[in-house]
Amino acid sequence: MTSKTSLTIRDFRPDDAEAAVAAHRAGREHLVMTAENLVWMNDRQLPGEHFRTFVAELDGRVVGSVRCAVAVGTTTVGVGYANGSVLPEARRRGAFTGLLAAAERHLAERGVTEVHGWVDDAPGSLAFAAARGFVIGRQGYFSGRDLTLPLPQAPVLPAGVELRPGTDWADDPLPLFVIDEDASRDEPGEVVLDATEYEDWRQGVWNRPDLDQALTTVAVVEGEPAAFTIAQTDGRGLYWSGFTACRRQFRGRGLSKLAKLESLRLAAAAGVRHAYTANDATNAPMLAINAWLGYERCAGEFKGIKRLGA
Ligand SMILES: CC(C)(COP(=O)(O)OP(=O)(O)OC[C@H]1O[C@@H](n2cnc3c(N)ncnc32)[C@H](O)[C@@H]1OP(=O)(O)O)[C@@H](O)C(=O)NCCC(=O)NCCS
Repeated sequence: MTSKTSLTIRDFRPDDAEAAVAAHRAGREHLVMTAENLVWMNDRQLPGEHFRTFVAELDGRVVGSVRCAVAVGTTTVGVGYANGSVLPEARRRGAFTGLLAAAERHLAERGVTEVHGWVDDAPGSLAFAAARGFVIGRQGYFSGRDLTLPLPQAPVLPAGVELRPGTDWADDPLPLFVIDEDASRDEPGEVVLDATEYEDWRQGVWNRPDLDQALTTVAVVEGEPAAFTIAQTDGRGLYWSGFTACRRQFRGRGLSKLAKLESLRLAAAAGVRHAYTANDATNAPMLAINAWLGYERCAGEFKGIKRLGA
């Protein structure tokens, strides 16, 4: 008797979250993601984003997913993204081909002509991307840090500088958005974030369920928030750096480094075991800060770009 595989591509439902996260993280422990967060991402709708998740079921089991949306917070039009993965043992059975086709259809219907996705620096993933029409571009690195090992000695705080927890801005994070907005414009990437909105940031970044306001640390200069590091945690001992940012006029004074060190110190004291982060390969300042903090490179990825309808 020959066994026939049945593949179904369908919309994500909240009870898929655990399986979708397991597929997302399998063999990629550096990706910090919770089921709660995936449900939340699918519940919230930012204007113009059209966020949607599809899952692939092989023989009735969810083995992978793709998250896709139109890029927002930018004046660039026609760009969308699709990011996903499939459980290693379920690969090469057409699951991601089906997921990507569903994502591309959804995005094309919303005016997207160029799809961006992150591709693992692994032979199968790169082969898939090339076979499905993606052109490989910029490189990113993941790195990790064992928080049970000692952190560097904290430098003396410069006069007028304080380090405060994000909880101090819990209900009114506008000063933190101002830092984010300034730094986002200078983050390396193809799509410049030159049109971010405070309300979208509050909903999409500050109110994420895995954002840990107590571990998020803000460097304040003479009473003015100047730099921050955003901490996300999975409640199971993992820490992810959401964003480290410094306003342009405060750069080059070691404020981001101080904020991130303090955040990691608080995380270690709270029992968090491991911290992970991702950086563009050209982001020299952030790579230098992370090296100083003791992060070590553990994986890589590439941006893949595909023209739709080409
Ligand atoms: C990329 C990824 C999603 C593919 O998932 P998948 O379900 O195995 O993909 P499919 O079965 O639909 O398509 C597999 C195709 O990829 C290519 N491919 C995959 N592995 C390959 C390998 N080792 N050698 C050569 N080609 C390979 C082939 O074109 C293959 O088609 P074929 O099996 O008909 O020869 C999966 O490898 C993964 O989860 N990687 C990590 C996440 C990631 O990088 N995602 C970005 C995707 S753009």
